[in-house]
Amino acid sequence: MVVGASGAGKTTILNILGGMDSLTSGEVLLDGEKISIFNKKKLTAYRRFDIGFVFQFYNLVQNLTALENVELAAQICKDPLDTMTVLEMAGLKDRAGNFPSQRDSIGAV
Ligand SMILES: Nc1ncnc2c1ncn2[C@@H]1O[C@H](COP(=O)(O)OP(=O)(O)OP(=O)(O)O)[C@@H](O)[C@H]1O
Ligand SMILES: [Mg+2]
Repeated sequence: MVVGASGAGKTTILNILGGMDSLTSGEVLLDGEKISIFNKKKLTAYRRFDIGFVFQFYNLVQNLTALENVELAAQICKDPLDTMTVLEMAGLKDRAGNFPSQRDSIGAV
């Protein structure tokens, strides 16, 4: 858990660890890799293959169902898991056919 006063740098450190921001001094090592010296291209690969990020204001495609949203993300993965299995693991199997704004299940897909 990252705890700190407002303005302490919580968002900043998470953005750096997520490969979405860079630093002006110091260094950041992750799994022995110095991510703080990664260029844009290496950071893109790092974001795509090495790290996962769940945003508080989730970035789902509104006109795709839950299943389609997962399928979309799986397309840029090297070795994606089965999409339906992933939804099941997240407890969303019954809502695979739902759009992000839909509260209730609309049945099987
Ligand atoms: N280590 C640091 N060195 C220099 N500036 C920093 C550092 N950490 C954070 N800042 C700057 O301080 C400001 C606030 O940081 P940040 O938004 O990360 O704080 P926060 O802990 O997420 O605050 P909040 O609780 O309000 O969300 C930003 O402008 C950021 O650039
Ligand atoms: Mg913050």
